[in-house]
This record gives sequence, structure tokens and C-alpha cells, in this order.
Amino acid sequence: MWTEQHVKEIDSIIRKKEDEQLSLPIMEQKLQINNRRYLGSKYKLLEFICKVVRENCTSVSSVADIFGGTGVVADRFNKEGKDIIVNDILYSNYLAYLTWFSNEKVNITKIEKLIKFFNESEPTEDNYVSINFGGTYFTEYNARKIGYVREEIEKMSDELNAREKAILITSLIYAMDKVANTVGHYDAYRRKLDSIKEIKLLMPEFNDGLNNGNKIFKEDANELVRKISADLIYIDTPYNSRQYGDAYHLLENIAEWEKPDLVGVAKKMIDRSHIKSDYCTMKATSAFADLISNIKGKYILVSYNNMAQKGVGRSNAKISSEEIVEILETRGTVEIFETNFQAYTTGKTNIDDHKEILYLCEVSR
Ligand SMILES: C[S@@+](CC[C@H](N)C(=O)[O-])C[C@H]1O[C@@H](n2cnc3c(N)ncnc32)[C@H](O)[C@@H]1O
Repeated sequence: MWTEQHVKEIDSIIRKKEDEQLSLPIMEQKLQINNRRYLGSKYKLLEFICKVVRENCTSVSSVADIFGGTGVVADRFNKEGKDIIVNDILYSNYLAYLTWFSNEKVNITKIEKLIKFFNESEPTEDNYVSINFGGTYFTEYNARKIGYVREEIEKMSDELNAREKAILITSLIYAMDKVANTVGHYDAYRRKLDSIKEIKLLMPEFNDGLNNGNKIFKEDANELVRKISADLIYIDTPYNSRQYGDAYHLLENIAEWEKPDLVGVAKKMIDRSHIKSDYCTMKATSAFADLISNIKGKYILVSYNNMAQKGVGRSNAKISSEEIVEILETRGTVEIFETNFQAYTTGKTNIDDHKEILYLCEVSR
């Protein structure tokens, strides 16, 4: 049994470890896949997810995380020795997957030198990022550096393989998150620019010994399931009308680096049609039904939370719990597992009955 006290103690150990990391010289600090803020990240629920799989599924040697987000769920199963398939519609997430899950050979010395070079650079000229995002999302200094570093990475594309380029961009994107003047997403910046820490890129830590047999995609999950199969398919769709492509437009802009025209106070890319998700619209339930009907696997595991009722409002859920069960039952028997999210947030949330829910379907039809 874990008590509140245990959670507090573990929290304080983690914080101490993070502080120790921060006091290391930059090149000794390593970036982990979970070192970023992301709406709906399941990092704090990994134990719960793994426990449900361990105790209720047999012979799972491959896992597909098809709405991967940060990739922390795929990462956990990868560390358990399973082959993973990982996917998201966002290019910025795809680059993180290449960083942590590919086994393409990387010249580590070359990448470390480049990261050091970028950290020591002092660009003085304005660029796309400083003109558009300086003084709002980032300090002028950090914005100039972000634009300069991203342009340099692009210029050296011929000397980098796809994974090396992905590692550098991922390092930049994670570094941006640490100094962004936001509450963790880019729907808006905070009015007072007080995130003034200097941007610092870190070398991601990865273990290629685990990465044989992994597959990485950037596709609409509904298209992807028609082509893949895995023992366990993990599904963690967006729950409401908030598009991830809007919330992370700035990271996506830097990842794609096509320097598009921008709109509105939040300076979003004009054309975001390619990163719009049906799961954030009225089409969510029919998209989910189509997804489930095309899955090839032994188990389907769906994450969901009870934070919002189904409805038409911006923060209302787009699919109801009843619909999830009904749709999953078309493929086999369904079991439901719940955990009180409070236990994972050390009491920071005021919503008393916030529950994280897993629906496990053993596929038989
Ligand atoms: C709730 S988040 C997943 C969080 C993830 N489990 C984690 O722990 O970080 C949902 C993700 O689905 C992605 N997404 C939305 N619609 C998609 C689609 N049709 N196909 C693939 N990915 C999609 C979003 O970009 C977002 O990253």
C-alpha cells in the first residue's frame, strides 16, 4: 500500500535527484524522454498502466502506442523489453521518437560537440523566431538563439543522418519548453515575461540496445491501424475539443521549420489543417468506432478520465464512457480499471473524484 507519506517522500527524492542533475556541468546533464510538460501525459500513471497489463494480459511481446504524445508509455514498454510501435500526428513528437526509439547509428561525439557549440553561441542578428516570438513566449535573447540554432541544424542537414538531426531538434524543443513564458502549452503566453532563464540544450540519453524491432510513425492512427498489428494496442486519444496541434503549434513550427505566416495574438501557423484531429470534433465517436473495428491485436487498452461529461462545450468530453464500452464490446469482453488520480498529484488538484480509467478489451471477434 502506498500512503500519502510515501508519495511525498518519493517526490522529494525525485526533486533532489533533479537538483543534483542541474548542478552538474551542462555536458554531464542528460535529457530524459519525460523531461517536458505535455497535456495528458501519462508519465505519472505508468505504474497503473503496467500493473493492469501485467496482471491481466498474457504473452504480450509487442505494444503499439498509437496516440503516443511524449512517448512515455511506449518508453516504459520498450524498457520492459517489448517491441514497440509508436505514432503521433505531430512531427515534433515523431522527432522525439526517432531520438529515443530508433536504432539508427549516432555519432555521439559529433552531436555532443554540436550541442556544446550551440550552447556557447551568442547570435546577434534577428531571425524568424526572434521577430515572431521574442518578448512574448521567450526573451529576445532566447528567441534569437532558438531561431539561430534551428537554422544551423537545417544548414547542416547533409552532414547528419535522420536520427542525428532529430536528436538536435528534440534537444532544442525540450530546451524551449524549459524557458517558455507559458503555463506549459502555447495557446497563450503569460502577460508578464518572467521566464528569463537562459536556454540550454542537453544531450538526450538513449539506449539503442533496446531499440531493435521498434517501428516509428507519424500518421493518422485510423490509417495506421489498417497496416499494423501488435499484441497490445494502447489508445490515448485527445478527450476534448482542444487540438494538440494548436496547443503545441510553436514546437511544431520549429520542428517543421517552413517558417509559415502566423495568425492571431498566439501567433499560430496559418495552415494547421494537417495536424487537426477528428478526435477533438463531433466526429470523435465515429472515428473511435472505425479505429477499434480495424485493430489487429490480442488486447486493446484505452485510457480515459472522468474529468468532463460528454457535451458540445470546449472542455466537454467528445466520447462518453458508455460509448467506449459499447464500441469495445464489439471486439470482445471489456474490463474497467480505475485509479484515483489524487494519489499521483500529491493533493495538488482540488477535483476530489478525478479518476483515471483504463478499459481493457480482450479481442475475440
Ligand atoms: C492524450 S495525448 C497522448 C499522451 C501520451 N499518452 C503521453 O503519455 O504523453 C493524445 C495525442 O494524440 C495525438 N493525436 C490526436 N489525433 C491523432 C490521430 N488522429 N492520429 C494520431 N495521433 C493523434 C495528439 O497529437 C496527442 O499527442
